[in-house]
Amino acid sequence: MDQVRIFDTTLRDGEQSPGAMMTSSEKLEVARALSRLRVNVIEAGFPAASPDDLNAVQRIAEEVGNITSEGQDQAPIICGLARAHSADIDAAWKAVEPAARPRIHTFLATSEIHMKHKLRMDPEEVIERVIEMVQYARSFCDDVEFSPEDAGRSDPDFLYVVLEEAIKAGATTLNIPDTVGYTTPNEFGGIIAGIVEHVPGVEDVILSVHCHDDLGLATANTLAGIQAGARQAEVTINGIGERAGNTSLEEVVMALHTRRPVFSLSTDIDTTQISRVSKLVSNYTGIMVPPNKAIVGANAFAHEAGIHQDGMLKNELTYEIMRPETVGLTQSTLVLGKHSGRHAFKVRLKELGYELGDDDLARAFRRFKSLADKKKVITDADLEALVADELYQPPEVFALEGLQVVCGTMGMPTATVRLSGPGDTRYVQAAIGTGPVDAAYKAVDEIVGASNVLLEFSVNAVTEGIDAQGEVAVRIQGEDAPDALNAQRETSRPRTYGGYGADTDIIVASVKAYLSALNKLLAEEGYRSEAESAAQVGGAGKAEAAVPVEAPK
Ligand code: KIV
Ligand code: ZN
Repeated sequence: MDQVRIFDTTLRDGEQSPGAMMTSSEKLEVARALSRLRVNVIEAGFPAASPDDLNAVQRIAEEVGNITSEGQDQAPIICGLARAHSADIDAAWKAVEPAARPRIHTFLATSEIHMKHKLRMDPEEVIERVIEMVQYARSFCDDVEFSPEDAGRSDPDFLYVVLEEAIKAGATTLNIPDTVGYTTPNEFGGIIAGIVEHVPGVEDVILSVHCHDDLGLATANTLAGIQAGARQAEVTINGIGERAGNTSLEEVVMALHTRRPVFSLSTDIDTTQISRVSKLVSNYTGIMVPPNKAIVGANAFAHEAGIHQDGMLKNELTYEIMRPETVGLTQSTLVLGKHSGRHAFKVRLKELGYELGDDDLARAFRRFKSLADKKKVITDADLEALVADELYQPPEVFALEGLQVVCGTMGMPTATVRLSGPGDTRYVQAAIGTGPVDAAYKAVDEIVGASNVLLEFSVNAVTEGIDAQGEVAVRIQGEDAPDALNAQRETSRPRTYGGYGADTDIIVASVKAYLSALNKLLAEEGYRSEAESAAQVGGAGKAEAAVPVEAPK
């Protein structure tokens, strides 16, 4: 086979990383984007984790798992993860069953450390359980993937036996995880080569690799595994995932694409979608992409040094091994000013891959006009930030209507915030803080009253120049609801919510990002009633402090 299947686990292993939690509708949006990217398999979640997780996977199975995107001859496979327990497999099957091409992915650890200390099972019990659970999964679904967790640190001879039994029990894909990112490329390639050589029946199944980046070797290990015979790569957008993350999709795909003579392998991926999906995932998770990140970092195609710029002007091949357009970055600046019409705006958005309905287009166009008043040159990056800020947002419980800040070296930083809230009530609140953002967030807190901890706050300039838009990503953790919500979850991770905002005024962008995260938090059960009651009392929890005002006529 000269093709590598791309198995995307952004919504499972990626979402499992600290702070990367997404709402169900965000997961659905990401799944749609992954389908447009033409990944072969979408691992949509871990359905046994909670009813919410199960529902999210089920929705993706129904709505994405039955649609063929442009350039695809079939809908993507929708996969659900299950531990090697019948209840997990039942949940996974319930979640993925609506998809045209469902897959159950079950796993059990095979390293001595995991078997002894985590599972407290002896090797024979592990083999028996693998056989039993793979057969059980096969009783529902023809497409079953099995992963020997911590394969990277497992005894190879034991691994071969487990894999042979998994094949005999009906596994159709064998995925080899370097769960703790411990191996080096030579070692990992050797593990895959050993499996190809020693496991009877392996030629009839798809061999897959799944690497973590604890030593920064995930991409190198994945490529080594592919060179040794693996034909499925498990990856995430921007490399998000547990601890240091998973192998990043964009790195593996672009390595195979750019160095085709080395690998002689292709993927189905539409590489021009890469930047867009990267941005979407970063906006939804609140995890910013570092500027120097390969392929999708802001500086990945920037040439600063004079010698480099000189070379680029003479011939792009001097310093550019791939074209920015190949990953969906366009250099063009949109010279639509405030006199430009809606049609030209719509056409450019379409060229960038955004097909908006009438209402969304009208909203985005209003924003564009107001941006054009403030900023001379509007780039594609500005447009993407605008669409993300205006449209890729959770349903608004509270929305920013006005903000005024006083700050500087004299006096106390003060912010006055005006929000619209549930029931179309308006609130005005002023607060002082250590700086303008702190003051504004305090004023918002007084109105919204949903206690939370700000875990992360980052600001980034969308484009160069003094009039650039700033984009802000925040991550917050709710303090009140988690107990009730986590009680229904198998994995008791603290719930965190990412928020995104963009504006030419970074304090405004900061407040928008904070509200976007708060709106997600408020949308969760347990907070909803507080938010609703806020409509009557003028602030959830801090009623007396916030001042409801008359809605303007
Ligand atoms: O890293 C890992 O071992 C996993 C398995 C569940 C495949 O994510
Ligand atoms: Zn993993």
